[in-house]
Amino acid sequence: MNYTKSEQLYKQALQYFPGGVNSPVRAFKSVGGTPIFMERGNGCRIYDADGNEYIDFCCSWGPLILGHNHPQVRSKIMEAVEKGTSFGTPVQYELDLASLILQNHRFIEKLRFVSSGTEAVMSAVRLARGYTGKSKVIKFEGCYHGHVDHLLVKAGSGLVTFGESSSAGVPDAFARETIVIPLNNRLALEQAFLMHPNQVAAVIIEPIPANNGLLLQDTAYLQLLRTLCTQHNALLIFDEVISGFRVGFEGAAGYYNIQPDIITFGKIIGGGMPVGAYGASKEIMRFIAPDGPVYQAGTLSGNPVAMAAGAAQLQQCLQPGFYENLQTKTQAFVQYINQHCSSKGYEVQLFAIGSIFWIAFTRSPHVYSADQIDAAKMDSFKRLYQLLLQNGVYFGPSGYEVGFVSAAHSETDLQAAQQIICRCFDAVLG
Ligand SMILES: Cc1ncc(COP(=O)(O)O)c(C=O)c1O
Repeated sequence: MNYTKSEQLYKQALQYFPGGVNSPVRAFKSVGGTPIFMERGNGCRIYDADGNEYIDFCCSWGPLILGHNHPQVRSKIMEAVEKGTSFGTPVQYELDLASLILQNHRFIEKLRFVSSGTEAVMSAVRLARGYTGKSKVIKFEGCYHGHVDHLLVKAGSGLVTFGESSSAGVPDAFARETIVIPLNNRLALEQAFLMHPNQVAAVIIEPIPANNGLLLQDTAYLQLLRTLCTQHNALLIFDEVISGFRVGFEGAAGYYNIQPDIITFGKIIGGGMPVGAYGASKEIMRFIAPDGPVYQAGTLSGNPVAMAAGAAQLQQCLQPGFYENLQTKTQAFVQYINQHCSSKGYEVQLFAIGSIFWIAFTRSPHVYSADQIDAAKMDSFKRLYQLLLQNGVYFGPSGYEVGFVSAAHSETDLQAAQQIICRCFDAVLG
């Protein structure tokens, strides 16, 4: 593969943007080499500035559940653009997207659109604090919730700790409002509540943690979370920015049949345009301005073009068999690779749920928490990554990121990709 044009563009980008990018992981720091500048995408394939073609499993980090440039989504976007791109007033497109969601999602009654996942989480936490009148938030090591100040925290040493800021610029006082505990650990959760009686406004979790590997939780643990939140008058926030509309139309709430108090959305909800949202019962949502005292606003919230894209995409997701089909395809793909790797005795396997998968360099049947991931193994990912690229398979450029299968990945595409992936494993681990 020739990357001359990407390399030139990256040089130019370095002069304009910190690290040459507008979101850090795009800089390829953990896999080495130059970030690849993409030019266009169609179905499950993307094409870079040098004309190289890839089968794409990044899918823009999850939003593109229908693949790239889906005809229905594109035509709805065009239709909306023809009428004007923004008015700063209510528009019918907001109702189209909201009604589609609320009529098909049993776990929320009202929602508010924003423009990113980060904004959705930030607003959901404020709502939880405003509703409960309490301030502390429990979060889990290994879950990412966007770049919200008080959630950019990592655990200190100990089972239940106040957050230590994981980014410069986050005051200690903010980080100390967040209590950080390990995933899937009952004792830590119980202790966190006991140590902070009457102070916890919310527990926030990615119910399908997919930002630090794929750390699938026991259903019983998620149920315990629900029970303890209710007992301690804390709100349970499911951050479904990745899992929402991904593992089923009702996301993880539907998958595990657990009723959270607030759900946050992003990615798929916008059909590839910048949309986020948070939703809850009418009782909780009446605390949001202008109905209630919790302020939250946005110039481009409910943007007509973005709403049209989201509605067009979600309409496709509602077609009968849509999620079953995605899951079946993903399972076959993952099973093929896993059988190959286990027959060769490689210390690697793919974990999957719905159409999300993750390459885990371990033989352990479960990886529940961030501390179970061996960082030293990421060297193998780095070598694998470069080989995959050279063979026309694109993943998110970090071994901690998950991959996504879209409706546009046909069985033939997946079979082609699984052959390449197995050959690359042979080269790295054989
Ligand atoms: C679970 C989760 N929450 C929040 C966010 C932040 O969303 P955004 O990048 O749209 O701000 C992300 C982004 O990857 C995410 O995965």
